[in-house]
Amino acid sequence: MGISISTAVLLLCWLANATAAKATKGQGQPIIIDTDLFGDVDDVGALTIANVLHNCGLADLRGIMINTPSQYGAPAASAICSYFGNKNVPVAALRPITNASFFDDWEYVRGEYASKIAYNWPGSLTNASLAPTPVELYRSVLASAENSSLHIISIGFLTNLADLLRSEADDVSPLTGTELLEAKVSELVVMGGRYPSGWEYNFGGTDPNSTTYVIEHWPKTVPVTFSGGELGSTVFSGQRPLEESPSDSLPVSAYQWYVGRGSVTREAWDPITVLYGILGLDNFTKLGVWPMLAYANEYGYNTITASNGSNAWVNDTSVRNQHWLKLADGVTNTSMAWLVDNFLVHPPGLSRCLV
Ligand SMILES: *[C@@H]1O[C@H](CO)[C@@H](O)[C@H](O)[C@H]1NC(C)=O
Ligand SMILES: *[C@@H]1O[C@H](CO)[C@@H](O)[C@H](O)[C@H]1NC(C)=O
Ligand SMILES: *[C@@H]1O[C@H](CO)[C@@H](O)[C@H](O)[C@H]1NC(C)=O
Ligand SMILES: *[C@@H]1O[C@H](CO)[C@@H](O)[C@H](O)[C@H]1NC(C)=O
Ligand SMILES: *[C@@H]1O[C@H](CO)[C@@H](O)[C@H](O)[C@H]1NC(C)=O
Ligand SMILES: *[C@@H]1O[C@H](CO)[C@@H](O)[C@H](O)[C@H]1NC(C)=O
Ligand SMILES: *[C@@H]1O[C@H](CO)[C@@H](O)[C@H](O)[C@H]1NC(C)=O
Ligand SMILES: *[C@@H]1O[C@H](CO)[C@@H](O)[C@H](O)[C@H]1NC(C)=O
Repeated sequence: MGISISTAVLLLCWLANATAAKATKGQGQPIIIDTDLFGDVDDVGALTIANVLHNCGLADLRGIMINTPSQYGAPAASAICSYFGNKNVPVAALRPITNASFFDDWEYVRGEYASKIAYNWPGSLTNASLAPTPVELYRSVLASAENSSLHIISIGFLTNLADLLRSEADDVSPLTGTELLEAKVSELVVMGGRYPSGWEYNFGGTDPNSTTYVIEHWPKTVPVTFSGGELGSTVFSGQRPLEESPSDSLPVSAYQWYVGRGSVTREAWDPITVLYGILGLDNFTKLGVWPMLAYANEYGYNTITASNGSNAWVNDTSVRNQHWLKLADGVTNTSMAWLVDNFLVHPPGLSRCLV
């Protein structure tokens, strides 16, 4: 099974590379990524995928919002974009900015990586105080987007999106935040929760009130897709990159600093979410691989317990635009990890999607 899937993947890669000549940098699916870059390193994998797919013409990375307060998050995101030749991607920083530095006080194994990538690969933004706020950047990117065009990909806490939903008309746009989202966003993709029910850190860890606000006030006309803790926790990226990447690779260095002890193996919660946010279910074939994700439900909607951020799916046949993801039938965690690893070993200057 493993051999036949790999062979099929390679064959499709060859076909895709043969037909990919027309792709233009930044001409793909418009996206905004809202990330908690700081407390886990899979955000680096996610931003790596977004930059590589931007460069090969499948994504248009319009902006990055940081939803953690540390001063190191925004410069680290800018470092990743600049490393991949995309120094003009705007990055916003949550206020108030703190001097917090990641410290693993639950397992005493993981290391800090955000300040290290910010200082070793300085990007165009070196000081979070100079970044716009997430609400400012969201409003300006949304205001200038085509109607129903953007995918917002949330891979951390929902603080910024709650603030945006509550924002009023201003000199950037006569629309409220909620109206801007209704008009400009074609899908919200969220790494958070467990499905069909449970507790997960992005929803319940630091800001369950914002999670509750977003889940309860998100415009009903805009589809939402959830990528749950149970999906990413079955896929471990990083088994190849340590051997195959040069020692000066930013993503592999970040994974090494975080995971520690000579390993880069980590659950792929955020990378899988960004792949879906850019490619949907159907456009994996543009990479030259089989469709790798599927919806696990046909109908219903997500609900939240405000006090602790737990979520539970409600089986309502009248709601058809909310889904949660699973691996497609026949796709193994090994195939998905192979795909994520392909981005982690991607040389920054290579313009095709896969190595
Ligand atoms: C962060 O550290 C700098 C330099 O040590 C200091 O000037 C600043 O007041 C600190 N900021 C906060 C919010 O603690
Ligand atoms: C970042 O910019 C702020 C505002 O200009 C300034 O007060 C602060 O010292 C700068 N921080 C660093 C580390 O340069
Ligand atoms: C975009 O949507 C807004 C309201 O949602 C509408 O007023 C406007 O005409 C639309 N613009 C285009 C170009 O369709
Ligand atoms: C969260 O919301 C509850 C009520 O829903 C409120 O009592 C509580 O103070 C809020 N917590 C924060 C940190 O805002
Ligand atoms: C796939 O899942 C199995 C457990 O079901 C796990 O042992 C293995 O490490 C996983 N492999 C990858 C590449 O994620
Ligand atoms: C896949 O790509 C096509 C155009 O190339 C686009 O129209 C479609 O919306 C994309 N699908 C998803 C789910 O992103
Ligand atoms: C969260 O609260 C709900 C409702 O009270 C409860 O059913 C659930 O077990 C709680 N979850 C956790 C992890 O405490
Ligand atoms: C919703 O439907 C699924 C199967 O379609 C079932 O497994 C689940 O128990 C149902 N949940 C509730 C709350 O009824």
